[in-house]
Amino acid sequence: MSWDFRQPGTRICVCYDVSNDDALKLWRESEQPSVEQLKEKHGCGDNCATCIPYFRTLLRDYQRGKWPKGESASAGTEWFGAKKK
Ligand code: FES
Repeated sequence: MSWDFRQPGTRICVCYDVSNDDALKLWRESEQPSVEQLKEKHGCGDNCATCIPYFRTLLRDYQRGKWPKGESASAGTEWFGAKKK
């Protein structure tokens, strides 16, 4: 089973134990959702910052109504050259 950053409950920020559910909750409570909010509240990006591109993609899809309702055809982890299994 491959890691799917769009799957509900998936931990995105390993350094600070922040899931996509945590991000979604924060963004739903905000009038202007941003990745910066995750940094301010949880510290996401303060260590390795590997999570930031994933959060950016989730936020973009959230704002476009593509996530969490549906899956994008281009879902993947291509930022770092990782391949889906
Ligand atoms: S995974 Fe988020 S700061 Fe390292």
